[in-house]
Amino acid sequence: RQLALPRDKSLPPVVFHYIPWFGSAAYYGEDPYKFFFECRDKYGDVFSFVLLGRKMTVALGPKGNNLSLGGKTSQVCAEDAYTHLTTPVFGKGVVYDCPNDMLMQQKKFIKSGLTTEALQSYPPLIEDECEEFFKHDLGLSASKPSVKVDLLKTMSEMIILTASRTLQGKEVRKHVNGKFAQYYEDLDGGFTPINFMFPNLPLPSYRRRDKAQKAMSDFYMKIIEERKKGETDHEFDMISSLQGSVYKNGVPLTDRDISHIMIALLMAGQHTSSATSSWTLLHLADRPDIYEGLYQEQKKVFGKPDGTFAPVTYESIKELPLMDAVIRETLRMHAPIHSIYRKVISDIPVPPSLSAPSEQSSYVIPKGHFIVAAPGVSQMDPLIWQNSKTWTPERWLEEKGVGQAAVEQYTKSEQIDYGFGSVSKGTESPYQPFGAGRHRCVGEQFAYTQLSTIISHIVRNYTMKLEVPSFPETNYRTMIVLPKNPQVSFSVRKQDV
Ligand code: HEM
Repeated sequence: RQLALPRDKSLPPVVFHYIPWFGSAAYYGEDPYKFFFECRDKYGDVFSFVLLGRKMTVALGPKGNNLSLGGKTSQVCAEDAYTHLTTPVFGKGVVYDCPNDMLMQQKKFIKSGLTTEALQSYPPLIEDECEEFFKHDLGLSASKPSVKVDLLKTMSEMIILTASRTLQGKEVRKHVNGKFAQYYEDLDGGFTPINFMFPNLPLPSYRRRDKAQKAMSDFYMKIIEERKKGETDHEFDMISSLQGSVYKNGVPLTDRDISHIMIALLMAGQHTSSATSSWTLLHLADRPDIYEGLYQEQKKVFGKPDGTFAPVTYESIKELPLMDAVIRETLRMHAPIHSIYRKVISDIPVPPSLSAPSEQSSYVIPKGHFIVAAPGVSQMDPLIWQNSKTWTPERWLEEKGVGQAAVEQYTKSEQIDYGFGSVSKGTESPYQPFGAGRHRCVGEQFAYTQLSTIISHIVRNYTMKLEVPSFPETNYRTMIVLPKNPQVSFSVRKQDV
């Protein structure tokens, strides 16, 4: 017999739980996808659950995603959902510590820093960092041809080295292994699910976070000050691009605002890209045929008659369909963010098509709930994707590939200007690893450039092997979906004869 809680029929069904305040915290926290898929079977696409005293309502599937990510600002609010987590880390006055209209303008400033010219300047710098890292930090050479590593740790280092060399600026790169590393570690220690659920605990990690926020913010302020004196030249980094930005009302972005945006960008890109590169390489180590395919693709596009490779360029990345498919497919199965939250600020009517067939009447998601989007559910839905649980980059390659067709079938092509540039609304798409709507990621192009360049370097120069008996499982206890115990080895590639 199905256990059920007594309920108000004007509200979504509530997931059964025994302990009132605790609710479904363990069930959801341990494996959110298992929780989402099992609850969808029982309750339909829209259901509520209790999470440590908060009322969460999940809206699944392309239409559910639209309800939340495409929601009007009069209905859903990201600031109210995130500010207690992000403001102590990023700092005041930016992102979720300001009205939404200001965030939209900040995103526009960031976008105008990620010009084609800027992106074109990044691959050589990224390649340079990769070369240095594999040869010197990992010490790979003819005399030490193989090394076993924790892949997540290795990729986290690669991502911070390459992001600091490009987006963050050369001063950050210079200190990235010194004082900056400590600030980052302490700040990151304050960006956890515990901080999300309990914003004000008297724990040492909270004090360390606050100290690190101030130190990190002052560190960027100093860079800006020095630059104003004209003592440092710089490349196409974000600090120089943000300097001089002015809001529509004529108020300029302050140096402190720039510092806080820089911290936000660091945090937004670091774990997402470390996780994505790690999962990609794990799958490649597991599928030597695809790894070989990528190597052949590198030879075809960059190979020179003397057996060496031409440098990766921003334009040439677009000529790597297999690379694109490999990253795209990894993001389908391992979207770094499993739950996207908004606070409901006025009742949201649920369209009848989203209610379970057993429901007699339509209902609302009431003001005060959090609405949860989980794009990963539609990205792994067997009703939408063939072999949804299997990593199949080929699905993106076939003529009008199965992957692309699945996306197009559901995606409205409507373009919409949220203030930071015209983007495909895409809020009803079954594929949204970068989110959708007004809060959609502005870092996608940078992330693809960074990931494709790093993976190109690895594929050209090294082979890989999984050093664990089975493919790593997923850790959902962190803010970002990470692999557990991802041990692999890199070996220097024997040059083709
Ligand atoms: C927003 C994913 C890399 C900057 C988002 C969102 C997602 C996402 C899902 C939407 C969040 C929401 O709706 O609440 C990813 C993935 C990445 C990545 C999968 C890499 C594989 C980056 C990078 C940067 C960045 C490298 C910076 C250069 C941002 C910013 C937002 C955002 C500024 C906007 C937040 C908002 O409007 O509320 N990202 N991201 N991301 N991301 Fe990314």
